[in-house]
Amino acid sequence: MAEHVAVLVTVCFVHVLDEARGRLVLMGATPPFTELSGTVELGLGEGVAGWVALHAEPAVVPDKWQDDRYVYIPALRGEDYESLVSVPLLGRGQHVVGVLNVHARRPRRYGDLDVALLAQVGNLLARTIENARLYERLAVREQTLEQFAARTIDAQEMERRRLAGEIHDGISQRLISLWYHLQAAGANASDPAALARELAAAEDLTSAALDEARRAIAGLRPSVLDDLGLGPSLESLAHSVAGLDVDVDAEPCRLAAHVEVALYRIAQEALQNVMKHAAARRVTVRLSETAAGGVRLVVEDDGVGFRPAGRRGGDPSYGLVGMRERAELVGATLQVTSAAGTGTRVEVELAAPSSRQRSTTRAE
Ligand SMILES: Nc1ncnc2c1ncn2[C@@H]1O[C@H](COP(=O)(O)OP(=O)(O)OP(=O)(O)O)[C@@H](O)[C@H]1O
Ligand SMILES: [Mg+2]
Repeated sequence: MAEHVAVLVTVCFVHVLDEARGRLVLMGATPPFTELSGTVELGLGEGVAGWVALHAEPAVVPDKWQDDRYVYIPALRGEDYESLVSVPLLGRGQHVVGVLNVHARRPRRYGDLDVALLAQVGNLLARTIENARLYERLAVREQTLEQFAARTIDAQEMERRRLAGEIHDGISQRLISLWYHLQAAGANASDPAALARELAAAEDLTSAALDEARRAIAGLRPSVLDDLGLGPSLESLAHSVAGLDVDVDAEPCRLAAHVEVALYRIAQEALQNVMKHAAARRVTVRLSETAAGGVRLVVEDDGVGFRPAGRRGGDPSYGLVGMRERAELVGATLQVTSAAGTGTRVEVELAAPSSRQRSTTRAE
């Protein structure tokens, strides 16, 4: 049996499906092709492997020169191999993860047992690939979490300094003046005109100190969320956008408090970006339930647009990165779609509660 395999089964290729691009990428090969890993690609439906990935069923090709599906790729030296069996790598839920190809030097007819055995090997491979992907995703999520924690600590420090400054320069100064005026009022108790003057000054200072305190607190957290809930808060946020036609449509959605804060902050940054960069005439904000029971927030403008991918690399701006981090932390996906001249669409989608653990981040 071993001899039979050594003579007839000459080389194996593992093609892994890159779902985002709809391409099969050669990710593993036995000698002499090991070096080709990552360098050969096929489209879905292209070649025998592409056909197998598309149809999620094995293909037995005793003589590939007689098979219309076969595509010659010089790097894979098809001239050295005659027959081929190709099985899909089926992961959880019979999902196609890739394709395993076994090429033999001579024309050969593969029996059902051969194909069934290869299919089983393929499914083992599929599970391994899926686990590796999950691990990778978890590692990215952990890194995001660490970055977010670091930024949160920085932001907290800045916020503390801002508050300390406002209390020191504003509220404390007013309270000191207030104390002097009250002292003076006490000292002038027998002079009604002076007393009235000092008390009026004290009154003015009290309301100024109150204003300062309100300003210091404002921005610490969106208290409007507690007062109004997410929908009306988004409306009030959108209407604070100056000089723009704003259209808000927010369905009432039941969400955890931390998710509401995340969506509110994302909308806030998206709207700030519209004001700062878009030169838009119109912006729409939509909050709705998805058909699958999740929630979708969309902020869309008709402004100048930009190339999201082109902004990467050494850019110090934090807005888009922060939006993505906030979305990922609550298990949502965030997509920014934009191109020069087409306006910008920021979409956050949160899966229904039961499926949130499976949610992933899509690339732009
Ligand atoms: N709605 C938009 N319309 C046009 N360009 C946009 C829009 N949103 C973002 N951009 C572009 O993307 C860049 C990055 O946005 P980001 O929010 O990350 O940074 P920023 O707004 O420049 O700075 P900040 O860190 O204060 O948010 C912007 O500088 C701008 O060029
Ligand atoms: Mg910004």
